[in-house]
Amino acid sequence: VHWTAEEKQLITSVWNKINVEECGAEALARLLIVYPWTQRFFDNFGNLSSPTAIIGNPKVRAHGKKVLTSFGEAIKNLDNLKATYAKLSELHCEKLHVDPENFRLLGDILIIVLASHFGKDFTPACQSAWQKMVRVVAHALAHEYH
Ligand code: HEM
Repeated sequence: VHWTAEEKQLITSVWNKINVEECGAEALARLLIVYPWTQRFFDNFGNLSSPTAIIGNPKVRAHGKKVLTSFGEAIKNLDNLKATYAKLSELHCEKLHVDPENFRLLGDILIIVLASHFGKDFTPACQSAWQKMVRVVAHALAHEYH
């Protein structure tokens, strides 16, 4: 994957303004609410019985932060994403059995979260760079599947 200087700049400029805890929690909560079948991977997270319960669930918040923090690693390693995510890919495949389609869903949800947080500042050019970013992350996470 090739990244232009402009794409890298657009990705990092948004990243530097993100509240990782807030946006990470919101992205995972939205995933669980909008695509409820994803809840089955988190059956040890306690109460996921309604949107309010999901949004207020501390385990969802903590895990959402963890997942978005991991995006930060990706941003530091844009030119080396497959290697960066090799271990996580193995984990999601062999231990967690998460269908890679879910990586794409979470990526699209993250775009919506960014758009709702940044409004007009999330320009079409920003969206385009981030859309590429989440697609490449999803691809890297699916890479070790067999
Ligand atoms: C665990 C990243 C998507 C399900 C994790 C961990 C990270 C991570 C960093 C913690 C690994 C550890 O503890 O060593 C990501 C990233 C994603 C992603 C960057 C980006 C697309 C998903 C999706 C699902 C999922 C879409 C399911 C729908 C899980 C589960 C765990 C986990 C069930 C273990 C949770 C626990 O019990 O602690 N992920 N993940 N992940 N992930 Fe993901």
